[in-house]
Amino acid sequence: MVGIEDLDEFALVKSSMSELVASMDDKSQMKKMMLHLCISGGKLIRPVMLILCTQICGGRSEESANAALAIELIHSASLIHDDVLDGGIMRRGVESAHEKYGMSAAILCGDFMISRAITLISSYGRDSVYEFGKAGMYMAEGETIDIASVSDEFLEMNYFECIIKKTASLFASSTAIGAYAAGADVQTAERFRLFGEYVGTAYQMVDDLLEYLGNLDGKQSTYESTTLPLIFRRTMGHDVAVGKTVNEILFYVSKAKALMAIIPNSKSKDNLLLVADLITIDLLPDSIIKNNSN
Ligand code: FPP
Ligand code: MG
Repeated sequence: MVGIEDLDEFALVKSSMSELVASMDDKSQMKKMMLHLCISGGKLIRPVMLILCTQICGGRSEESANAALAIELIHSASLIHDDVLDGGIMRRGVESAHEKYGMSAAILCGDFMISRAITLISSYGRDSVYEFGKAGMYMAEGETIDIASVSDEFLEMNYFECIIKKTASLFASSTAIGAYAAGADVQTAERFRLFGEYVGTAYQMVDDLLEYLGNLDGKQSTYESTTLPLIFRRTMGHDVAVGKTVNEILFYVSKAKALMAIIPNSKSKDNLLLVADLITIDLLPDSIIKNNSN
């Protein structure tokens, strides 16, 4: 089966990231951390989606390569800070940044990445820079909601606000910026933004469902958020809670795909829809999909 890492856009982001890190001062501790954190196994989902959206809107990959890097850097920064906040021990199969380099260095590395990302996005137009800033604000706000999620009063509505802000906002900005980089108008960019938001929402629900089922490899945290299957399980059994979560995932993926129906068919569009499936439905265990279709 084709994976994201088989796409040309993945290779482009990976090589631009390597170049960016290689250009840093060899003596700096920051370079060492960047090497560990940026070159180690990220799936590069968001920057790949960004570049595919640029292509779909008639632009060239090279035009959005720096924006794609900016998105990946802010994503990596958010994971470093997230691991600090929720006591993450393992990330992408290796020690989290604060476990490996200490708390202060990890926080500063995240700060460096956010700032470097701003330098990269700054040459794009106002709409892209605004989208980028908005994602950062939402991510931080979503994370605040997540921290408060331990309460019994954390309901389905609160869960969706949380994940739309902490996770889906960066997907939404990626796909909108991808469109803007190709010169798309606001209406088109908004369609792409919403596509990203729906895919990002489904992606976080899958992540949460896999964690609930104990199926997540390469990650380990000490703090556990209240997630959709846990909220459903309060009032219904485990099986129904899982089934209802799967239905929500399928609903969001289908809403995302419906938005792309009016976009002319192309290889790039096929790849964007492929990525949407790879990071959502395709990650669900076969047994769950089967049980749910009965
Ligand atoms: C992972 O969630 C974390 C996020 C999706 C976002 C974290 C955002 C911040 C810490 C705010 C940072 C803001 C900026 C501007 C960089 P999770 O803990 O549910 O998933 P995990 O299992 O991957 O840890
Ligand atoms: Mg976490």
